[in-house]
Amino acid sequence: MENFEQLKTVKFYSGDATPLEMHKVRVVQKLNLLPIEERKESIFGAGFNTFLLQNKDVYLDMLTDSGTNAMSDNQVAAMSVADDSYAGSSSYTKLENAIHEVFNQKYFLPVHQGRAAEHIISKTFVKPGKVIPMNYHFTTTKAHIEMMGGIVEEIYTDEALKIKSDFPFKGNMDIHKLNKIITKWGAANVAYIRFEAGTNLIGGQPFSMANLREVSAIAKANKILLLMDTSLINENLYFIKVREEGYQNKPIKDILHEMMSYTDFSYFSGRKVSCTRGGGICTNNHDIYMQMRDWVPLYEGFLTYGGMSVREIEAMAVGLVETLDFNVISHSPTFIKYLVDSLDKRGIPVITPSGGLGCHLDAKAFISHVPQGQYPAGALAAALYVASGIRGMERGTISSVRDANGDDILADVELLRLAFPRRVFTLSQIKYAEDRIQWLYDNRELIGGLEWTEEPPVLRFFVGKLKPIGDWVDKLVAKFRKDFGDSL
Ligand code: F0G
Repeated sequence: MENFEQLKTVKFYSGDATPLEMHKVRVVQKLNLLPIEERKESIFGAGFNTFLLQNKDVYLDMLTDSGTNAMSDNQVAAMSVADDSYAGSSSYTKLENAIHEVFNQKYFLPVHQGRAAEHIISKTFVKPGKVIPMNYHFTTTKAHIEMMGGIVEEIYTDEALKIKSDFPFKGNMDIHKLNKIITKWGAANVAYIRFEAGTNLIGGQPFSMANLREVSAIAKANKILLLMDTSLINENLYFIKVREEGYQNKPIKDILHEMMSYTDFSYFSGRKVSCTRGGGICTNNHDIYMQMRDWVPLYEGFLTYGGMSVREIEAMAVGLVETLDFNVISHSPTFIKYLVDSLDKRGIPVITPSGGLGCHLDAKAFISHVPQGQYPAGALAAALYVASGIRGMERGTISSVRDANGDDILADVELLRLAFPRRVFTLSQIKYAEDRIQWLYDNRELIGGLEWTEEPPVLRFFVGKLKPIGDWVDKLVAKFRKDFGDSL
Protein backbone atom coordinates (compact mmCIF):
# COMPACT_ATOMS: atom_id res chain seq x y z
CA MET A 1 0.00 0.00 0.00
CA GLU A 2 2.95 2.32 0.61
CA ASN A 3 3.41 3.31 -3.04
CA PHE A 4 -0.19 4.55 -3.09
CA GLU A 5 0.79 7.26 -0.67
CA GLN A 6 2.47 9.99 -2.64
CA LEU A 7 1.85 12.85 -0.28
CA LYS A 8 3.94 15.56 -1.82
CA THR A 9 2.80 17.73 -4.68
CA VAL A 10 5.11 18.87 -7.48
CA LYS A 11 6.37 22.42 -7.13
CA PHE A 12 7.21 24.48 -10.23
CA TYR A 13 10.56 26.34 -10.42
CA SER A 14 8.60 29.38 -11.64
CA GLY A 15 6.49 29.25 -8.48
CA ASP A 16 3.30 28.86 -10.58
CA ALA A 17 0.47 27.05 -8.81
CA THR A 18 -0.08 24.78 -11.81
CA PRO A 19 -1.83 21.47 -11.11
CA LEU A 20 0.04 18.58 -12.72
CA GLU A 21 -1.58 15.44 -14.16
CA MET A 22 -0.20 12.26 -12.52
CA HIS A 23 -1.53 10.09 -15.33
CA LYS A 24 -1.24 10.05 -19.10
CA VAL A 25 -3.98 9.79 -21.69
CA ARG A 26 -4.05 6.55 -23.68
CA VAL A 27 -7.57 6.50 -25.13
CA VAL A 28 -9.20 9.65 -26.44
CA GLN A 29 -12.61 10.75 -27.64
CA LYS A 30 -12.91 13.26 -30.47
CA LEU A 31 -14.59 16.56 -29.57
CA ASN A 32 -16.46 19.07 -31.72
CA LEU A 33 -16.51 22.80 -31.26
CA LEU A 34 -19.29 24.22 -33.42
CA PRO A 35 -19.06 27.78 -34.73
CA ILE A 36 -20.96 30.24 -32.54
CA GLU A 37 -23.82 30.61 -35.07
CA GLU A 38 -24.49 26.85 -34.79
CA ARG A 39 -24.17 26.96 -31.02
CA LYS A 40 -26.86 29.61 -31.05
CA GLU A 41 -29.12 27.32 -33.10
CA SER A 42 -28.43 24.40 -30.75
CA ILE A 43 -29.37 26.34 -27.63
CA PHE A 44 -32.61 27.53 -29.23
CA GLY A 45 -33.30 23.90 -30.25
CA ALA A 46 -32.67 22.80 -26.65
CA GLY A 47 -35.14 25.38 -25.28
CA PHE A 48 -32.28 27.14 -23.44
CA ASN A 49 -31.97 24.06 -21.24
CA THR A 50 -28.47 22.53 -21.23
CA PHE A 51 -29.93 19.12 -20.28
CA LEU A 52 -31.54 19.07 -23.75
CA LEU A 53 -28.36 19.75 -25.75
CA GLN A 54 -26.98 16.88 -27.81
CA ASN A 55 -23.53 15.86 -26.58
CA LYS A 56 -22.20 16.05 -30.17
CA ASP A 57 -22.90 19.81 -30.06
CA VAL A 58 -20.97 20.27 -26.80
CA TYR A 59 -17.23 20.99 -26.60
CA LEU A 60 -16.62 20.55 -22.83
CA ASP A 61 -19.37 18.64 -21.08
CA MET A 62 -19.31 20.06 -17.56
CA LEU A 63 -22.96 19.20 -16.84
CA THR A 64 -22.05 16.60 -14.22
CA ASP A 65 -19.33 14.32 -12.86
CA SER A 66 -21.83 11.46 -12.71
CA GLY A 67 -20.95 8.48 -14.92
CA THR A 68 -18.60 10.68 -16.98
CA ASN A 69 -15.29 10.08 -15.22
CA ALA A 70 -12.23 8.54 -16.90
CA MET A 71 -11.42 4.96 -15.91
CA SER A 72 -7.88 3.76 -15.31
CA ASP A 73 -6.22 1.16 -17.55
CA ASN A 74 -6.55 -1.33 -14.69
CA GLN A 75 -10.28 -0.73 -14.47
CA VAL A 76 -10.76 -1.28 -18.19
CA ALA A 77 -8.59 -4.42 -18.05
CA ALA A 78 -10.64 -5.79 -15.14
CA MET A 79 -13.82 -5.46 -17.20
CA SER A 80 -12.60 -8.05 -19.67
CA VAL A 81 -12.28 -10.80 -17.04
CA ALA A 82 -15.78 -10.34 -15.61
CA ASP A 83 -17.56 -13.49 -14.47
CA ASP A 84 -21.08 -13.55 -15.95
CA SER A 85 -23.43 -15.37 -13.63
CA TYR A 86 -26.72 -14.45 -12.03
CA ALA A 87 -25.73 -15.72 -8.59
CA GLY A 88 -22.36 -16.13 -6.90
CA SER A 89 -20.29 -14.29 -9.53
CA SER A 90 -16.61 -14.16 -8.63
CA SER A 91 -16.65 -10.53 -9.84
CA TYR A 92 -18.95 -9.79 -6.92
CA THR A 93 -16.54 -11.44 -4.47
CA LYS A 94 -13.82 -9.07 -5.68
CA LEU A 95 -16.12 -6.12 -5.05
CA GLU A 96 -16.99 -7.36 -1.57
CA ASN A 97 -13.28 -7.70 -0.80
CA ALA A 98 -12.69 -4.14 -2.03
CA ILE A 99 -15.50 -2.89 0.23
CA HIS A 100 -13.82 -4.62 3.20
CA GLU A 101 -10.42 -3.18 2.36
CA VAL A 102 -11.43 0.35 1.39
CA PHE A 103 -14.36 1.08 3.70
CA ASN A 104 -13.63 -1.51 6.41
CA GLN A 105 -17.29 -2.60 6.19
CA LYS A 106 -18.44 -6.23 6.52
CA TYR A 107 -21.81 -6.19 4.79
CA PHE A 108 -22.59 -4.88 1.33
CA LEU A 109 -25.76 -4.50 -0.74
CA PRO A 110 -25.22 -3.70 -4.44
CA VAL A 111 -27.66 -1.38 -6.27
CA HIS A 112 -27.83 0.09 -9.77
CA GLN A 113 -27.00 3.70 -8.73
CA GLY A 114 -26.98 6.06 -5.74
CA ARG A 115 -30.68 6.95 -5.72
CA ALA A 116 -31.56 3.24 -5.66
CA ALA A 117 -29.68 3.01 -2.35
CA GLU A 118 -31.66 6.05 -1.16
CA HIS A 119 -34.86 4.29 -2.14
CA ILE A 120 -34.04 1.17 -0.11
CA ILE A 121 -32.73 3.12 2.91
CA SER A 122 -35.81 5.40 2.96
CA LYS A 123 -38.18 2.48 2.52
CA THR A 124 -36.59 0.70 5.47
CA PHE A 125 -35.96 3.52 7.95
CA VAL A 126 -38.25 6.46 7.10
CA LYS A 127 -41.82 6.46 8.41
CA PRO A 128 -44.42 9.25 8.12
CA GLY A 129 -43.56 12.16 10.43
CA LYS A 130 -39.99 11.00 11.13
CA VAL A 131 -37.33 13.64 10.80
CA ILE A 132 -33.96 13.27 9.07
CA PRO A 133 -31.41 15.96 9.98
CA MET A 134 -28.63 16.44 7.41
CA ASN A 135 -25.86 18.89 6.53
CA TYR A 136 -27.63 19.63 3.22
CA HIS A 137 -30.09 17.79 1.02
CA PHE A 138 -29.44 16.31 -2.39
CA THR A 139 -32.38 16.36 -4.86
CA THR A 140 -32.95 12.59 -5.12
CA THR A 141 -32.27 12.05 -1.40
CA LYS A 142 -34.93 14.53 -0.36
CA ALA A 143 -37.44 13.18 -2.87
CA HIS A 144 -37.06 9.60 -1.56
CA ILE A 145 -37.35 10.69 2.08
CA GLU A 146 -40.42 12.84 1.40
CA MET A 147 -42.02 10.07 -0.65
CA MET A 148 -41.98 7.95 2.54
CA GLY A 149 -43.51 10.81 4.56
CA GLY A 150 -40.25 11.87 6.21
CA ILE A 151 -39.17 15.44 6.97
CA VAL A 152 -35.77 16.79 5.93
CA GLU A 153 -34.13 19.25 8.35
CA GLU A 154 -31.02 20.97 7.04
CA ILE A 155 -28.59 21.96 9.75
CA TYR A 156 -25.75 23.60 7.88
CA THR A 157 -23.55 26.22 9.54
CA ASP A 158 -23.77 29.97 8.86
CA GLU A 159 -20.78 29.67 6.53
CA ALA A 160 -22.40 27.12 4.22
CA LEU A 161 -24.40 29.46 1.98
CA LYS A 162 -21.91 32.33 1.90
CA ILE A 163 -20.62 32.62 -1.64
CA LYS A 164 -17.29 34.09 -0.57
CA SER A 165 -15.69 32.41 2.39
CA ASP A 166 -12.37 30.98 3.46
CA PHE A 167 -13.94 28.49 5.84
CA PRO A 168 -12.35 25.13 4.98
CA PHE A 169 -15.30 22.91 5.98
CA LYS A 170 -18.52 24.50 4.74
CA GLY A 171 -20.16 21.03 4.72
CA ASN A 172 -20.07 20.84 8.56
CA MET A 173 -23.24 20.40 10.60
CA ASP A 174 -24.21 23.05 13.12
CA ILE A 175 -24.00 21.15 16.42
CA HIS A 176 -26.21 23.62 18.23
CA LYS A 177 -28.99 23.24 15.62
CA LEU A 178 -28.63 19.44 15.76
CA ASN A 179 -29.14 19.40 19.54
CA LYS A 180 -32.14 21.70 19.16
CA ILE A 181 -33.75 19.42 16.56
CA ILE A 182 -33.27 16.36 18.75
CA THR A 183 -34.84 18.18 21.70
CA LYS A 184 -37.71 19.52 19.55
CA TRP A 185 -38.66 16.24 17.86
CA GLY A 186 -37.40 13.75 20.44
CA ALA A 187 -34.64 11.26 19.59
CA ALA A 188 -37.17 8.49 18.94
CA ASN A 189 -38.63 10.54 16.06
CA VAL A 190 -35.32 10.96 14.29
CA ALA A 191 -35.05 8.19 11.69
CA TYR A 192 -31.30 8.77 11.27
CA ILE A 193 -28.83 11.60 10.83
CA ARG A 194 -27.47 11.90 7.27
CA PHE A 195 -24.02 13.28 6.59
CA GLU A 196 -23.24 13.98 2.94
CA ALA A 197 -19.55 13.91 2.10
CA GLY A 198 -18.51 16.62 -0.37
CA THR A 199 -21.87 18.38 0.05
CA ASN A 200 -23.06 18.60 -3.56
CA LEU A 201 -25.60 21.41 -3.74
CA ILE A 202 -23.59 23.98 -1.78
CA GLY A 203 -20.60 23.68 -4.06
CA GLY A 204 -18.96 20.31 -3.34
CA GLN A 205 -17.90 21.45 0.14
CA PRO A 206 -16.38 18.99 2.65
CA PHE A 207 -17.01 18.41 6.36
CA SER A 208 -14.23 17.90 8.89
CA MET A 209 -13.39 14.78 10.85
CA ALA A 210 -13.77 16.80 14.06
CA ASN A 211 -17.35 17.71 13.13
CA LEU A 212 -18.18 14.13 12.14
CA ARG A 213 -16.76 12.89 15.46
CA GLU A 214 -18.88 15.35 17.39
CA VAL A 215 -22.06 14.50 15.48
CA SER A 216 -21.38 10.80 15.97
CA ALA A 217 -21.04 11.28 19.76
CA ILE A 218 -24.40 13.07 19.84
CA ALA A 219 -26.01 10.37 17.70
CA LYS A 220 -24.65 7.61 19.97
CA ALA A 221 -25.70 9.38 23.17
CA ASN A 222 -29.24 9.66 21.76
CA LYS A 223 -29.24 6.17 20.18
CA ILE A 224 -29.79 7.66 16.71
CA LEU A 225 -28.31 5.98 13.63
CA LEU A 226 -25.72 7.88 11.59
CA LEU A 227 -25.78 7.43 7.80
CA MET A 228 -23.08 8.76 5.48
CA ASP A 229 -23.52 9.44 1.76
CA THR A 230 -20.04 8.64 0.43
CA SER A 231 -20.74 9.45 -3.24
CA LEU A 232 -18.27 12.35 -3.07
CA ILE A 233 -15.97 10.81 -0.44
CA ASN A 234 -12.85 11.09 -2.67
CA GLU A 235 -12.66 14.84 -2.42
CA ASN A 236 -13.82 14.98 1.22
CA LEU A 237 -10.92 12.65 2.07
CA TYR A 238 -8.55 14.87 0.12
CA PHE A 239 -9.71 17.97 1.99
CA ILE A 240 -9.44 16.34 5.43
CA LYS A 241 -5.91 15.28 4.54
CA VAL A 242 -4.75 18.67 3.29
CA ARG A 243 -6.88 21.05 5.40
CA GLU A 244 -7.43 19.41 8.79
CA GLU A 245 -4.79 19.50 11.48
CA GLY A 246 -3.36 16.12 12.38
CA TYR A 247 -4.23 14.34 9.11
CA GLN A 248 -1.41 15.39 6.75
CA ASN A 249 0.68 12.34 7.54
CA LYS A 250 -2.13 9.80 7.88
CA PRO A 251 -2.66 7.30 5.06
CA ILE A 252 -5.91 7.87 3.11
CA LYS A 253 -7.06 4.41 4.16
CA ASP A 254 -6.73 5.22 7.86
CA ILE A 255 -8.62 8.49 7.39
CA LEU A 256 -11.43 6.68 5.58
CA HIS A 257 -11.58 3.91 8.20
CA GLU A 258 -11.77 6.52 10.94
CA MET A 259 -14.67 8.23 9.11
CA MET A 260 -16.48 4.92 8.70
CA SER A 261 -15.97 4.07 12.39
CA TYR A 262 -18.30 6.97 13.27
CA THR A 263 -21.13 5.79 11.00
CA ASP A 264 -23.69 3.01 11.36
CA PHE A 265 -24.19 2.61 7.62
CA SER A 266 -23.32 4.36 4.37
CA TYR A 267 -24.16 4.36 0.65
CA PHE A 268 -22.60 5.61 -2.54
CA SER A 269 -23.18 6.42 -6.17
CA GLY A 270 -20.51 4.50 -8.09
CA ARG A 271 -21.12 6.92 -10.94
CA LYS A 272 -18.97 9.28 -8.87
CA VAL A 273 -16.81 7.54 -6.29
CA SER A 274 -15.42 4.64 -8.31
CA CYS A 275 -15.58 6.17 -11.83
CA THR A 276 -18.05 3.47 -12.89
CA ARG A 277 -21.83 3.09 -12.97
CA GLY A 278 -23.58 1.48 -10.01
CA GLY A 279 -23.79 1.89 -6.28
CA GLY A 280 -24.12 0.19 -2.93
CA ILE A 281 -24.95 0.25 0.76
CA CYS A 282 -22.35 -0.72 3.39
CA THR A 283 -22.56 -1.48 7.10
CA ASN A 284 -20.86 -3.40 9.88
CA ASN A 285 -24.19 -3.90 11.62
CA HIS A 286 -25.82 -7.24 10.84
CA ASP A 287 -29.23 -6.07 12.01
CA ILE A 288 -29.20 -3.01 9.72
CA TYR A 289 -28.07 -5.22 6.84
CA MET A 290 -30.87 -7.73 7.44
CA GLN A 291 -33.53 -5.02 7.58
CA MET A 292 -32.64 -3.85 4.05
CA ARG A 293 -31.39 -7.05 2.43
CA ASP A 294 -34.61 -8.44 1.01
CA TRP A 295 -35.55 -5.27 -0.85
CA VAL A 296 -32.48 -5.65 -3.08
CA PRO A 297 -33.64 -8.73 -5.06
CA LEU A 298 -37.10 -7.14 -5.36
CA TYR A 299 -36.07 -3.73 -6.68
CA GLU A 300 -32.51 -4.08 -7.96
CA GLY A 301 -31.51 -7.66 -8.77
CA PHE A 302 -29.98 -10.64 -7.01
CA LEU A 303 -27.64 -9.92 -4.09
CA THR A 304 -24.50 -10.56 -6.13
CA TYR A 305 -25.18 -7.93 -8.80
CA GLY A 306 -27.96 -5.55 -7.67
CA GLY A 307 -28.75 -4.25 -11.16
CA MET A 308 -25.11 -3.68 -12.16
CA SER A 309 -23.38 -5.44 -15.03
CA VAL A 310 -20.56 -7.73 -13.90
CA ARG A 311 -18.17 -5.64 -16.01
CA GLU A 312 -19.02 -2.54 -14.00
CA ILE A 313 -18.65 -4.58 -10.80
CA GLU A 314 -15.08 -5.54 -11.77
CA ALA A 315 -14.25 -1.93 -12.63
CA MET A 316 -15.86 -0.71 -9.40
CA ALA A 317 -13.72 -3.07 -7.27
CA VAL A 318 -10.56 -1.66 -8.86
CA GLY A 319 -11.87 1.94 -8.82
CA LEU A 320 -12.65 1.82 -5.11
CA VAL A 321 -9.13 0.62 -4.24
CA GLU A 322 -7.73 3.42 -6.42
CA THR A 323 -9.58 5.90 -4.18
CA LEU A 324 -6.81 5.23 -1.65
CA ASP A 325 -4.27 6.79 -4.04
CA PHE A 326 -3.58 10.43 -3.21
CA ASN A 327 -2.78 11.18 -6.87
CA VAL A 328 -6.20 9.90 -7.89
CA ILE A 329 -8.23 11.87 -5.36
CA SER A 330 -6.21 15.07 -5.64
CA HIS A 331 -6.60 15.53 -9.39
CA SER A 332 -10.09 16.96 -9.43
CA PRO A 333 -9.80 19.33 -6.41
CA THR A 334 -6.48 20.76 -7.64
CA PHE A 335 -7.87 21.43 -11.12
CA ILE A 336 -11.03 22.97 -9.62
CA LYS A 337 -8.86 25.13 -7.36
CA TYR A 338 -6.89 26.33 -10.37
CA LEU A 339 -10.04 27.64 -12.09
CA VAL A 340 -11.79 28.95 -8.94
CA ASP A 341 -8.72 30.84 -7.69
CA SER A 342 -8.01 32.30 -11.09
CA LEU A 343 -11.61 33.55 -11.57
CA ASP A 344 -11.75 34.82 -7.99
CA LYS A 345 -8.52 36.79 -8.49
CA ARG A 346 -10.06 38.47 -11.54
CA GLY A 347 -13.08 39.52 -9.46
CA ILE A 348 -15.43 37.04 -11.19
CA PRO A 349 -17.99 35.80 -8.63
CA VAL A 350 -17.44 32.10 -7.75
CA ILE A 351 -18.04 30.01 -4.65
CA THR A 352 -14.96 29.98 -2.44
CA PRO A 353 -13.04 28.23 -1.10
CA SER A 354 -12.87 25.80 -4.01
CA GLY A 355 -14.40 22.42 -3.22
CA GLY A 356 -14.76 19.10 -5.03
CA LEU A 357 -17.20 18.41 -7.87
CA GLY A 358 -16.81 21.65 -9.82
CA CYS A 359 -16.52 25.40 -10.12
CA HIS A 360 -19.71 27.25 -9.23
CA LEU A 361 -20.34 30.70 -10.74
CA ASP A 362 -22.61 33.01 -8.75
CA ALA A 363 -25.11 34.10 -11.41
CA LYS A 364 -26.86 36.61 -9.12
CA ALA A 365 -23.65 38.64 -8.88
CA PHE A 366 -22.38 37.80 -12.40
CA ILE A 367 -25.48 39.25 -14.09
CA SER A 368 -26.96 41.28 -11.26
CA HIS A 369 -29.16 43.21 -13.74
CA VAL A 370 -31.19 40.05 -14.52
CA PRO A 371 -33.97 39.69 -11.92
CA GLN A 372 -34.21 36.32 -10.15
CA GLY A 373 -37.66 35.76 -11.69
CA GLN A 374 -35.95 35.73 -15.10
CA TYR A 375 -33.67 32.86 -14.07
CA PRO A 376 -30.13 34.30 -14.02
CA ALA A 377 -28.42 30.90 -13.51
CA GLY A 378 -30.27 29.43 -16.50
CA ALA A 379 -29.50 32.50 -18.61
CA LEU A 380 -25.81 32.32 -17.67
CA ALA A 381 -25.70 28.58 -18.50
CA ALA A 382 -27.13 29.32 -21.96
CA ALA A 383 -24.84 32.32 -22.49
CA LEU A 384 -21.73 30.31 -21.57
CA TYR A 385 -22.72 27.56 -23.99
CA VAL A 386 -23.19 30.12 -26.78
CA ALA A 387 -19.89 31.81 -25.95
CA SER A 388 -17.83 28.62 -25.62
CA GLY A 389 -19.61 25.34 -26.37
CA ILE A 390 -19.22 24.50 -22.65
CA ARG A 391 -22.26 22.97 -21.02
CA GLY A 392 -22.81 23.55 -17.31
CA MET A 393 -25.84 22.90 -15.10
CA GLU A 394 -28.30 25.47 -13.77
CA ARG A 395 -28.57 25.19 -9.97
CA GLY A 396 -30.99 27.99 -9.13
CA THR A 397 -34.66 28.88 -9.43
CA ILE A 398 -35.27 26.77 -12.56
CA SER A 399 -34.22 23.77 -10.40
CA SER A 400 -36.72 24.95 -7.75
CA VAL A 401 -40.53 24.62 -7.75
CA ARG A 402 -43.63 26.84 -7.58
CA ASP A 403 -45.69 27.46 -4.43
CA ALA A 404 -49.42 26.79 -4.01
CA ASN A 405 -50.23 30.14 -5.71
CA GLY A 406 -48.15 29.22 -8.74
CA ASP A 407 -45.35 31.65 -7.91
CA ASP A 408 -41.72 30.64 -8.23
CA ILE A 409 -40.00 29.77 -4.96
CA LEU A 410 -36.78 31.68 -5.53
CA ALA A 411 -33.70 29.56 -4.81
CA ASP A 412 -31.28 30.44 -1.95
CA VAL A 413 -28.51 30.76 -4.51
CA GLU A 414 -28.37 31.09 -8.31
CA LEU A 415 -25.44 28.96 -9.41
CA LEU A 416 -24.00 27.79 -12.69
CA ARG A 417 -22.21 24.55 -11.86
CA LEU A 418 -19.29 23.60 -14.05
CA ALA A 419 -18.58 20.03 -13.01
CA PHE A 420 -15.13 18.48 -13.42
CA PRO A 421 -15.49 14.82 -14.43
CA ARG A 422 -12.45 13.15 -12.84
CA ARG A 423 -9.28 12.97 -15.00
CA VAL A 424 -11.19 13.98 -18.15
CA PHE A 425 -10.09 17.51 -19.08
CA THR A 426 -6.59 18.82 -19.67
CA LEU A 427 -5.27 22.08 -18.26
CA SER A 428 -5.50 23.84 -21.64
CA GLN A 429 -9.19 22.97 -21.79
CA ILE A 430 -9.65 24.48 -18.33
CA LYS A 431 -7.71 27.55 -19.51
CA TYR A 432 -10.13 27.80 -22.43
CA ALA A 433 -13.05 27.77 -19.96
CA GLU A 434 -11.30 30.46 -17.92
CA ASP A 435 -10.79 32.61 -21.03
CA ARG A 436 -14.39 32.37 -22.27
CA ILE A 437 -15.80 33.03 -18.76
CA GLN A 438 -13.64 36.16 -18.58
CA TRP A 439 -14.95 37.30 -21.98
CA LEU A 440 -18.51 36.65 -20.89
CA TYR A 441 -17.93 38.57 -17.67
CA ASP A 442 -16.55 41.54 -19.60
CA ASN A 443 -19.68 41.44 -21.80
CA ARG A 444 -22.12 40.52 -19.06
CA GLU A 445 -24.38 43.52 -19.66
CA LEU A 446 -25.39 41.90 -22.97
CA ILE A 447 -26.92 38.85 -21.21
CA GLY A 448 -30.67 38.98 -20.57
CA GLY A 449 -33.25 36.79 -18.87
CA LEU A 450 -35.37 33.78 -19.82
CA GLU A 451 -39.05 32.87 -19.76
CA TRP A 452 -40.84 29.52 -20.02
CA THR A 453 -42.32 28.17 -23.22
CA GLU A 454 -42.96 24.67 -21.85
CA GLU A 455 -42.94 24.10 -18.10
CA PRO A 456 -43.44 20.55 -16.78
CA PRO A 457 -45.16 20.29 -13.38
CA VAL A 458 -42.43 18.13 -11.77
CA LEU A 459 -38.64 18.34 -11.97
CA ARG A 460 -39.05 21.05 -14.60
CA PHE A 461 -35.31 21.63 -14.91
CA PHE A 462 -34.75 18.28 -16.65
CA VAL A 463 -36.95 18.69 -19.72
CA GLY A 464 -38.58 22.14 -19.50
CA LYS A 465 -38.04 24.65 -22.33
CA LEU A 466 -37.47 28.41 -22.22
CA LYS A 467 -36.71 31.31 -24.56
CA PRO A 468 -34.70 34.50 -24.19
CA ILE A 469 -36.47 37.72 -23.27
CA GLY A 470 -35.50 40.06 -26.12
CA ASP A 471 -32.70 39.62 -28.68
CA TRP A 472 -29.75 39.37 -26.29
CA VAL A 473 -28.42 36.17 -27.85
CA ASP A 474 -27.99 37.89 -31.26
CA LYS A 475 -26.15 40.74 -29.56
CA LEU A 476 -23.86 38.28 -27.78
CA VAL A 477 -23.08 36.47 -31.06
CA ALA A 478 -22.36 39.77 -32.85
CA LYS A 479 -19.98 40.90 -30.08
CA PHE A 480 -18.21 37.53 -30.16
CA ARG A 481 -17.61 37.87 -33.91
CA LYS A 482 -16.35 41.41 -33.42
CA ASP A 483 -13.88 40.36 -30.71
CA PHE A 484 -12.79 36.93 -32.00
CA GLY A 485 -13.00 37.33 -35.79
CA ASP A 486 -13.41 33.92 -37.41
CA SER A 487 -12.40 31.92 -34.31
CA LEU A 488 -14.58 28.98 -33.33
N1 F0G B 1 -25.81 11.58 -3.47
C1 F0G B 1 -25.07 12.58 -3.98
C2 F0G B 1 -24.21 13.38 -3.07
C3 F0G B 1 -25.07 12.82 -5.37
O1 F0G B 1 -24.32 13.81 -5.85
C4 F0G B 1 -25.88 12.02 -6.22
C5 F0G B 1 -25.93 12.28 -7.66
C6 F0G B 1 -26.65 11.01 -5.63
C7 F0G B 1 -26.59 10.81 -4.26
C8 F0G B 1 -27.52 10.12 -6.47
O2 F0G B 1 -26.72 9.21 -7.16
O3 F0G B 1 -27.10 9.79 -9.58
O4 F0G B 1 -26.10 7.58 -8.89
O5 F0G B 1 -28.48 8.06 -8.48
N2 F0G B 1 -25.51 13.35 -8.21
C9 F0G B 1 -25.52 13.61 -9.66
C10 F0G B 1 -25.07 15.03 -9.97
C11 F0G B 1 -26.79 13.26 -10.36
O6 F0G B 1 -25.08 15.42 -11.16
O7 F0G B 1 -24.66 15.76 -9.08
P1 F0G B 1 -27.13 8.63 -8.61
